[in-house]
Amino acid sequence: MRKPFIVANWKMHKTVQESADFVKAIKDHLPDPEKVEVGIAGQAFALYSMHEAAAKSGLRIIAQNAAPQLSGPFTGEISMRGLSQAGVSHVMLGHIERRRLFNETNEAVHQKVETAIMTGLTPIICTDETMVQREMNGEIHYVLKQLQSVLHGVSLDQIRDIIISYEPSWAVGVGQRANTALAEEGCRQIRRMIADIYTYEIADKIRILYGGSVNPKNIQEIMAKPDIDGVLIGRASLDVDNFLAMVNYQ
Ligand code: G3P
Repeated sequence: MRKPFIVANWKMHKTVQESADFVKAIKDHLPDPEKVEVGIAGQAFALYSMHEAAAKSGLRIIAQNAAPQLSGPFTGEISMRGLSQAGVSHVMLGHIERRRLFNETNEAVHQKVETAIMTGLTPIICTDETMVQREMNGEIHYVLKQLQSVLHGVSLDQIRDIIISYEPSWAVGVGQRANTALAEEGCRQIRRMIADIYTYEIADKIRILYGGSVNPKNIQEIMAKPDIDGVLIGRASLDVDNFLAMVNYQ
């Protein structure tokens, strides 16, 4: 049984005060953490305040990105060691916006995954594709290549705790109704890839999240799909009432 994981990705929104206030407003209304896991990926400067505001609520504090190096002369970068001591439990790696806008490569994401494992942060490995890439190959060949290079060298023991997300570019940020059949198909194929690369047992346990125009109206239909274990929510997660409606979708 895979525990659902509902994640807000705030991207470059909210100040320290706004982030902490949001956490205070939701923390007593979250679902039972034994049944549904909830996390928020805020901006780096707000994560520690969010951690403090979350107190013992079980809310996961998530970084949106971090450097592959442990420490050193890398001005402006964010260290995972620092994040893990600031109450952060997970780090998103290779989000579609990092890849498309900041030229993040599979190799860079691979190095970040290794550093996350080393520092005890749980990676949320993001995969994406365009409609053209999908149609060209008939199935998500592009995503398979992303996963193969990013997971290179990740052992059977290490893969168990890793989370994968699937965000097709045509559904991200458009606010249109997400096509749940395509979302399920993408996640199902990723699970099949994990079975090919690792084992069926691992594929059966690993959590795969879908991201792209998730909102309070479509979350139930999306979460009902057998291969979708959770969601990454952008725009619709910025509002307290919307977010609470989505984390309490059951
Ligand atoms: O990481 C989640 C995101 O990229 C999807 O954004 O605004 O379509 O929910 P949105």
